Amino acid sequence: MKLKTLAVAATAAVAMSAGSAMAAGSADAGKKVFKRCMACHTIKEGGAPKIGPNLYGAFGSKCGSSDKFSYGGGYKAACDKAGWTWNEDTLMTYLKAPSKFLSDKAGKQVRSKMTFKLPGKKDRQNVIAYLKSKK
Ligand code: HEC
Repeated sequence: MKLKTLAVAATAAVAMSAGSAMAAGSADAGKKVFKRCMACHTIKEGGAPKIGPNLYGAFGSKCGSSDKFSYGGGYKAACDKAGWTWNEDTLMTYLKAPSKFLSDKAGKQVRSKMTFKLPGKKDRQNVIAYLKSKK
């Protein structure tokens, strides 16, 4: 137990010292960030949607691909007009401000049903690494 704690601390220290030089986040740290997403999302294979779609396999998928979830009008308009794939770039922009991301894609002002924003860059990098590990 103690050794494990030390190993985790060491990993965190390395991740921190690598700092901005390292573009990729840490899936371990992202798992903690994801607690803030769990009010609205599950991330299990075959998991049910909650307020938002299940996010298992979302990384690498095309917009609108969760067939069990009813996306909002703004999301659909954006996806129909400008279709995208969820990768590091699109997720970094989306998680910072979902409605702005969708509005840019739709070419008009629309609102995301996701009312949550994740402004911290490191938090976003880490949670994206976590999403990437769940596919
Ligand atoms: C308050 C509820 C809520 C929270 C908290 C929330 N989301 Fe969402 N999320 C949604 C909803 C609702 C949608 C569907 C958006 C739409 O249809 O406009 C969504 C959509 C998404 C999508 C697009 C999925 C797809 O199938 O295209 C991703 C990726 C996502 N959320 C990631 C996250 C992450 C990561 C977090 C935590 C950092 C988070 N969300 C926190 C409600 C939430």
